[in-house]
Amino acid sequence: MRRLHLFEFGDQRWFPQLLRGAETAYLAAAYRLFPLPRQWAERIATVLPPGERAEIIDLCAGSGGAMPLILKELEKCGYEARATLTDLYPNPTCTSHQRISWRTEPLDATRVPPELAGVRTMFSAFHHFRPNAARTILQDAFDHRRPICIFEGGSGTLIGILTMVLVPVNVLALMPFARPFRWAYLIFTYLIPVVPLVVFWDGIVSMFRIYSEEQMRDLTDDMQAPDYAWEIGCIQTRGIPGGLPYLIGRPI
Ligand SMILES: C[S@@+](CC[C@H](N)C(=O)[O-])C[C@H]1O[C@@H](n2cnc3c(N)ncnc32)[C@H](O)[C@@H]1O
Repeated sequence: MRRLHLFEFGDQRWFPQLLRGAETAYLAAAYRLFPLPRQWAERIATVLPPGERAEIIDLCAGSGGAMPLILKELEKCGYEARATLTDLYPNPTCTSHQRISWRTEPLDATRVPPELAGVRTMFSAFHHFRPNAARTILQDAFDHRRPICIFEGGSGTLIGILTMVLVPVNVLALMPFARPFRWAYLIFTYLIPVVPLVVFWDGIVSMFRIYSEEQMRDLTDDMQAPDYAWEIGCIQTRGIPGGLPYLIGRPI
């Protein structure tokens, strides 16, 4: 599979939790500017049991990402859903929402404990996994016949890479709106501008790592069964050029 898996700060164990928090808090703030949460919710709704309370297990949740907005959108469509956020580096102080809770122990998305039942979701994070690990994530959902919804927040195309030049400016503009509000985020954004540089670098590298639709098809090729279906496609959204690849696996 032709794909460049370059260095990202966010992947490093030694990367300070403060900067990791700032990077993902920026993402969560940025989602509010786009119609993406609604579009993601519409697709997640297709795997939710109608009329039943649904449980979402969000893998690689960062600072909670778009989950509060997604739950709101689902509610508008008549779905009562709750979410459990999980991450290899959990950040439980970042979300206060009645229907969102954190699993405070680190959870590696390639090893989801079987007792965590529900719809698995992953936003802007699938590109962190090399093909073998990415396959493991999909295989586990397939073997346990769990629904899984994987969405990327970038296109991985040339136009996507070019738009990354705007990222440092976006970070400067959005950081005061990142929640929870932390003075340290602002210090490392404006006084010592590490956050805009880190987000810029990781953003560009992500574009090279994002799995295309074709690569997603390759990953799922040998996971086929009559009672499980894969849907792979691209979401077109206002304000982000190029389609955003997504992959949904659902038991039938
Ligand atoms: C780019 S952030 C995306 C965060 C969030 N989903 C969002 O959309 O804002 C990627 C997240 O993946 C997490 N992560 C990386 N490798 C992981 C792994 N093996 N298992 C679980 N989480 C992981 C990182 O800690 C980080 O929070």
